[in-house]
Amino acid sequence: MVFTDFGNKLSQHSGILQLMDDIAKPLPSDVTPHPLGGGNPARVPEVERAYRRELEHLLSDGERFEDMIAHYDSPQGRVSFLESAAAFFRERYGWPVTMENIALTNGSQSSMFYLFNLFAGKAGNEKRTLLFPLMPEYIGYADQGIEEGTFVSIPSLVEYYDDRTFKYRMDIKAVGSYLEEHPEVGAICVSRPTNPSGNVLTDDEIHALSDLAHKHSIPLIVDNAYGLPFPDIVFTDDAEPIWNEDIVLSMSLSKIGLPSIRTGIVIARKEIISAVGNINAIAALATGSFGPVLAENLLTSGELTKLAADVVRPFYENKMQKAVSWIRKYFDGTEYFIHRPEGSIFLWLYLPSLSMPSLEFYSVLMKEGVVTVPGEYFFFGEGTGVKDHPHYDRCLRINYSGDAALTEDGIRIIAEKYREYSV
Ligand SMILES: Cc1ncc(COP(=O)(O)O)c(C=O)c1O
Repeated sequence: MVFTDFGNKLSQHSGILQLMDDIAKPLPSDVTPHPLGGGNPARVPEVERAYRRELEHLLSDGERFEDMIAHYDSPQGRVSFLESAAAFFRERYGWPVTMENIALTNGSQSSMFYLFNLFAGKAGNEKRTLLFPLMPEYIGYADQGIEEGTFVSIPSLVEYYDDRTFKYRMDIKAVGSYLEEHPEVGAICVSRPTNPSGNVLTDDEIHALSDLAHKHSIPLIVDNAYGLPFPDIVFTDDAEPIWNEDIVLSMSLSKIGLPSIRTGIVIARKEIISAVGNINAIAALATGSFGPVLAENLLTSGELTKLAADVVRPFYENKMQKAVSWIRKYFDGTEYFIHRPEGSIFLWLYLPSLSMPSLEFYSVLMKEGVVTVPGEYFFFGEGTGVKDHPHYDRCLRINYSGDAALTEDGIRIIAEKYREYSV
């Protein structure tokens, strides 16, 4: 049996595979699992109640339920949701969008796969690339390019503060020069908030990237999986939802309570949306209807964004503050640094005294039942010295959205092992 290059590329071991496997696979029976790994969001009771109520309405409303389960939606997604979403973004933010600017996918992971391969890879005689201007970036992108060597990236600058925090800064000059020297770049991509670091690019940084995208006639893909206006897991005040014709905004219902239902929302100029819908027809026929049906009334009535701002954001902010306080307590006296937690559901720890690469430290922690994600997987992209980044193999990503006692105990164990394995 021979697998194609495409088959081999997608079926090889990857960081995201390991992360998803770690979520689902049982640990040895003699350890207590401390699941601080993958990207599972928390259960938020108020949000769950809203979906339950919508489902009860659906079940009791004539044949709406049967109507939903018995038909395929269009490849671009459920039309009534597309219309409602367009009206929502037009009215609330003044974005000049219609349903032709919106497509639904089976989760934003799929959206990114479609978008990346739309813009990076062979195009006639050219090889187009995708630029990540702020590395480290989301582990789930690293292996999504079908053609090898089409992802390029620029290592972030690091700014340290007195309180053992730091922040990754985009080297916008380097991004500008890179684009001047590399006309083959087909798109730029950032996650905002950034997974893994919890960084939130400011409005000015997004505008600067969008201007560069405009100048070079390429799209800026902004992955808004944790962003505004929903799920709103953003703890800074200098971030607004931003969209224009140069931006492809990728959203998701996963981190606002529906990870299992797989609903991604892409907002972009019409040609891109038409392409995403056409890819969806080939790859998946249609998008699942359940997510849009559950969320449509909540979106239209404003309840979804209200839940995001009033419940989801404070819920995670509270969890984040507790996790930071546990890190400060248990790591006290060691050399540790935390990326400023501005958004997302993760803390990103830099452990410069670690006596081994974080990939090995991850295995040490696994034996104790503590599941984390080692930093190396978040540094990818060709040719720009990303693996020389001082943080490359000395970071861990910690998901703090789970059970509080297990999160605290997990952090205690990580600190204990860090002391044991420090130089
Ligand atoms: C930054 C980012 N983008 C995209 C995704 C994919 O999410 P989903 O496919 O569930 O929408 C995730 C999941 O954790 C993520 O962290």
